[in-house]
Amino acid sequence: MKKKMLSTFLCIAVSLAVFAGCGPGSETEKGGEKDSGPDTSSEKDPAKDTGSGEAADTKTDDGEAGGTSDGGKKIALSMPSQSQQRWSFDAANMKKELEAKGYSVDVQFAEDDPAKQAEQIEQMIAAQADCLVIAATEPGELAAAADAAKSAGIPVIAYDRLIMDTDAVYYYVSFDNKGTGTMIGKTIAEKAGLDNLADGEYKTIEFFMGSADDKNARLVYNGLMEVLQPYLDSGRLICRTERTSFDDTSIKEWSPEKAQQRCEDYLAGYYTEEELDICAAASDGLASGCIRAMQSAGYTASNWPVISGQDCELDACKNILDGTQSFSIYKDSRVLAQKCAAMVEAVLNGTEAEINDTEQYDNNKLIVPAYLCTPQAVDKDNLKEVLVDGGYYTQEQIDAAES
Ligand code: BGC
Repeated sequence: MKKKMLSTFLCIAVSLAVFAGCGPGSETEKGGEKDSGPDTSSEKDPAKDTGSGEAADTKTDDGEAGGTSDGGKKIALSMPSQSQQRWSFDAANMKKELEAKGYSVDVQFAEDDPAKQAEQIEQMIAAQADCLVIAATEPGELAAAADAAKSAGIPVIAYDRLIMDTDAVYYYVSFDNKGTGTMIGKTIAEKAGLDNLADGEYKTIEFFMGSADDKNARLVYNGLMEVLQPYLDSGRLICRTERTSFDDTSIKEWSPEKAQQRCEDYLAGYYTEEELDICAAASDGLASGCIRAMQSAGYTASNWPVISGQDCELDACKNILDGTQSFSIYKDSRVLAQKCAAMVEAVLNGTEAEINDTEQYDNNKLIVPAYLCTPQAVDKDNLKEVLVDGGYYTQEQIDAAES
């Protein structure tokens, strides 16, 4: 079914190809600091959008499906879903950045459905977008869509999730994913006091990693293990399930529900005689699953584990302030949006975009030139300073979040 839709899509898109051969991966030459981004608080709060999968404000001000009154170019932005808060924020920031540069922007959310995302991209190609910015629902499922865009002469930029198995991607813009992993590892070591354990003392740990089809997930794991493996080797960390490999710990689609189930199974099967001290979770969503599992197993503040996360989503911020999540990794989507908008501009103007990585993002067809932004660890001590004083969230947004 999925395959059929993709191939139908490919046929239609290829038949629309009018600028064949203009994509990347040929001889075309292609082309990475943190600055303060636009304050989203003056905008409509994207987290409050609960729409049908399409952004409420996808239409351009001039009412046309695409073009601007001054003949500006049309950028199509394809996002995974609105079910995870960060993508709504990312979309709002991208829209703002691109519109400030004079582009019209069509935003679509795919409701976590790769077939739906492929269909939406098909429509974007049919509407003759000038550039596609795609955050893949499932990075391994969009090669045909990206190839079709290439055949239609539409450049593709991969936004925070690398599209695999295609040479149609010009650039990748993301955060330093391996650095995110080492940051999670170091912060776990610090919060769990791993360097201050007495002789023979240890902490128990279980791992909840991201989706195996997402290159970011493996890089986060690699970074994390670079820091934590020595503690496992020395016996200061003990993983009772012995599930420490990426394959054994990755969770499909970064699903909070699957993380909860897995954590419940671990607790019931391996932690009846002793407590679980650390849940190394690779995202806020995975952390939320672990938190629910710990709560239903009866853990309280007196024996609550260290639980990590990534993204600093609003619910996670609330959990950090309440003490159920120890910390998260802040990835300022305003900076990501600025870098991505600059890439769009470079691609459309035929110039080179700023990149700072030419090695890590091999998508099986090419090593995609990337710009990686710098993440930052946030816990209850610096949350207000970094996120509220930094203008990313208002205190009211955090107070209104669900814990
Ligand atoms: C992103 C993370 C996000 C995860 C789950 C990854 O590709 O890098 O920021 O938490 O997907 O959506």
